[in-house]
Order: sequence, then structure tokens, then C-alpha cells
Amino acid sequence: MATIFYKLPFFLLLFLLPSANSVSFQISHFESNASNILYYGDAIPSVGAIEMINKVNYVCRVGWATYANRVQLWDSITKKLTNFATHYSSFLYTQGSPAPKYGHGLAFFLAPVGFEIPPDSAGGFLGLFNTTTSDSRKNQIVLVEFDSYVNVEWDPSVEHVGINKNSIASAVYTPWNASFHSGDTVDVWITYSASTKNLSVSWEYQTTSNAPENTSLFYEIDLREILPEWVTVGFSAATSQYGERVTIKSWEFSSSLDIKETNGKNAKKKKLLVGLTVSGGVLIAGAIIAFVIMWTWKGKEKKEEEETAETVNLALMNDDLGRGAGPRSFEVVALEIATGRRSGYPMEENFDVGLLQWVWNLYGRGDLLLAVDGKMENDLDEKQVECLIIVGLWCVQPDRNLRPSIRQAIRVLNFGATTPNLPT
Ligand SMILES: *[C@@H]1O[C@H](CO)[C@@H](O)[C@H](O)[C@H]1NC(C)=O
Ligand SMILES: *[C@@H]1O[C@H](CO)[C@@H](O)[C@H](O)[C@H]1NC(C)=O
Ligand SMILES: *[C@@H]1O[C@H](CO)[C@@H](O)[C@H](O)[C@H]1NC(C)=O
Ligand SMILES: *[C@@H]1O[C@H](CO)[C@@H](O)[C@H](O)[C@H]1NC(C)=O
Ligand SMILES: *[C@@H]1O[C@H](CO)[C@@H](O)[C@H](O)[C@H]1NC(C)=O
Repeated sequence: MATIFYKLPFFLLLFLLPSANSVSFQISHFESNASNILYYGDAIPSVGAIEMINKVNYVCRVGWATYANRVQLWDSITKKLTNFATHYSSFLYTQGSPAPKYGHGLAFFLAPVGFEIPPDSAGGFLGLFNTTTSDSRKNQIVLVEFDSYVNVEWDPSVEHVGINKNSIASAVYTPWNASFHSGDTVDVWITYSASTKNLSVSWEYQTTSNAPENTSLFYEIDLREILPEWVTVGFSAATSQYGERVTIKSWEFSSSLDIKETNGKNAKKKKLLVGLTVSGGVLIAGAIIAFVIMWTWKGKEKKEEEETAETVNLALMNDDLGRGAGPRSFEVVALEIATGRRSGYPMEENFDVGLLQWVWNLYGRGDLLLAVDGKMENDLDEKQVECLIIVGLWCVQPDRNLRPSIRQAIRVLNFGATTPNLPT
């Protein structure tokens, strides 16, 4: 048994490397019971599509649909930026009203994780801005808008497709006629190239085509200057006293951020962590246990060279370990695995308090799942991951005497015991 546990981490390593911080999904049918898309405001899944504004007869509505996991756009250590591509098909119905009696459009946006529908953002603000934030350097948002209503305060004099950076006013745009294409399905492709910093959008209607309209647009932008490393991606739509029906029929997205570690010794450890993050909840718990066992084994090996690996098993684990220096590495690894973030060098004392503080804050706000690594995606078992993070926090709480032993920690990880309530 001991030999199996001893080999387990390497076994996992083999299977999980190499890894890249990439996200990829393809949704052709939006199930109402699926957890991969989050719906806010008036947006709902309906008959396999997303109905962006469910209450189309009400005034001043906002609907959002976002991908449930966060996406890493760039890495602050290596400054590497991701390429990404997304394709969606949607449908906008202006209900036979003449312009300007419909509106206000649909936007695909990238914004910081945790960004919420701003108050007073209906109508021309497209559910993403308001009078306070409509054009502010403090914003962190990039969007591609299909703007079906001309707001004279900030819009060009035509309905348009635009690319916006931190502002409700488009940085670049091309004329587009929403009512001309009303009821037709459009396929939209948005791509970003890290090497050329080219954010480009192109679209194609299934049946209608309006000769004077261009069907593509691009904008050069270094997303690292506008957005944080981790973002939420999704759609927003809004209405005023005038409305329209907007649905999303399918959506696919893929990004490929490949962070290669460079500095030898630590690179190995980081690689192990990054590799472990790829797997889902069960594997992670298993990996941690294996990691702890390996650590224990190593410790014992030092003290008692003559003892063989066979003597190591769970039962032998010393309860006192939990209060010594050892589990510091255990808890930091647990946090790192669950969040996919680095906290410094896991096996040493000098880890960065930033990660811990960040996770503590999320715990205090009841938002622990925001900490979860974007790569866990669909196989995310929220309860298990939350449990993993709580155990990590439990082990690092300021009062050493309240920290658990490894035995207690493992019991909680196995759901044999309830998670502790921690001070916030
Ligand atoms: C959602 O429900 C459908 C049937 O209504 C089922 O086939 C599918 O497996 C369910 N998906 C999830 C994630 O529960
Ligand atoms: C605009 O939204 C921000 C938050 O995003 C909020 O603090 C501010 O009060 C809002 N302004 C208005 C006029 O509602
Ligand atoms: C369409 O695109 C071409 C080439 O980029 C550009 O020269 C032209 O001004 C665009 N027309 C409109 C109406 O935006
Ligand atoms: C947009 O298309 C509609 C329907 O074809 C047409 O009546 C209207 O004049 C067009 N608007 C512009 C600005 O071309
Ligand atoms: C950006 O990408 C688009 C689409 O591939 C292309 O047409 C355009 O020339 C590119 N612009 C630059 C500046 O590279």
C-alpha cells in the first residue's frame, strides 16, 4: 500500500502534464439544468437557447449570460497573453417596429471576475455602464456591441457594430441595420491574437445581406493594459421603453494560455501544481492525500533512515504534524491546487500572503467559488472544491492551536466530518 501511495504523485504527474491555462467549451444547446452558464437579470435559458430579455414587454430591462468559470487572459509573471476565439449565433427581432422604436442591442464582453450588472445600466448603457461609469479610465471592460439604437450623446449617427474599450462609446465601428436583419440568425466570430494584439470580429447572416454594410471590424488593443489577468466572458442585452427580442442559440469559446516555467528548481514544483489543477475534485483530494503521505514519508526517512517505505501508512501519521511546520506546505498546496494560483514556493515558509488574504476575503464574503481555478470547468464539484479551500484556510488560521491535524484535515476532505466554521 505504501508503495502505491508513494508512486501516486508521479503517476498523476505523468497523466496531467503538460498543461496550459486554457479554456474551451462548445454549447449548442442551453439546458436549463446546466451549471456552465450563469444567468443574471432577465436572461434565462429557454428551449435550448438563451433568451436575453425574458420580459420583453416590460421597460428598462437588462439580461446577462456569462460563462460560469473565469478565464485567464494573461499571466503577470511571464506577461504572456492568450489568443482566444469565440463564435456564437444569435437572433435579434425588432418586432416590426420602425427605427428608433426598438433597442438597444447585444454585447459580448470581457470584464473582471466579480463584475456585476451596474445599477441604472438599462437602455443605451447595454447593461454594462451607467452615467457614472460610461467613460472612465477606472473601468476594466472590453466589448463587441451590436448596437441597435442611436444614443446621440455618445453613438455615431447610425446603428452599428462597434468595439469598445472602457467606454459606452465605440473605439471603432461600422454601420449596421438591425431591422434589416431582424429575425435572421447571425454567426459572429471574435478572435484575439496575442502576437498582433488584433481583436477582430466578423459576422455572417444566414439569409439576409445588405450590400453597403461591412461584415467585419478590428481594433488593435493590448488587453493587459485594460483587463486583469482573470476575466469573466459573456453577453449582455438591455432595453429601454423600446425593446427587442435577443437570443443566443449557440456559443463556443477557446483560449490557449501556455505558461512555461523557466527557473529550474521552482519550475518543477510549480509544474506539479499546475498539472494537478487540471483534474477534478476527486483526483485533487486524492493527490493531496498522496502528497501529504509522500511528505510524511520523506520526513520519516530523514529521521529514521533504517525504516522502510512499507511502514508508512495513514494510521501511522502523527497527529502532531498538524501543528508543526509540515502542514504549512500541505495547506498552501491545497489552496494553490484549488485556486490555480501560485502563492510562492509551497514547500517553504516564505509564501506570499497575497493568495491567502485573497482567499480569506472571498471566504468572508461567502464567495469562495470565485477563487476556483478556471480549468476545473465542467467537472467542478463545487462542494468538494469549497471543502478543499476551507481545509486550506483551516490549516493557516492565525491561532496555531485551532489548526487541525492532518488526520482531521483528511477526515474533512473525505466528507467524514463537517467543514469547520472559520473566523472571517
Ligand atoms: C439536464 O436534463 C437533461 C434531460 O432533461 C439530461 O439529459 C441532462 O443530463 C441533464 N444535465 C445535467 C447537467 O443535469
Ligand atoms: C454606476 O455603477 C456603479 C457600480 O458599478 C455604482 O457605484 C454607481 O453608483 C452607479 N451610478 C449610478 C448613477 O447608478
Ligand atoms: C468598410 O470597410 C472598408 C475596408 O476596411 C473601409 O474602407 C470602409 O470605409 C468601410 N465602410 C464602412 C461603411 O464602414
Ligand atoms: C434599415 O432597414 C430597414 C428595413 O429594410 C429600412 O426600412 C431602413 O430604411 C434601413 N435603415 C437605414 C438607416 O438604412
Ligand atoms: C486584424 O485581423 C483582421 C481579421 O483577420 C484582418 O483583416 C486585419 O487586417 C488585421 N489587422 C491588423 C492590423 O493586423
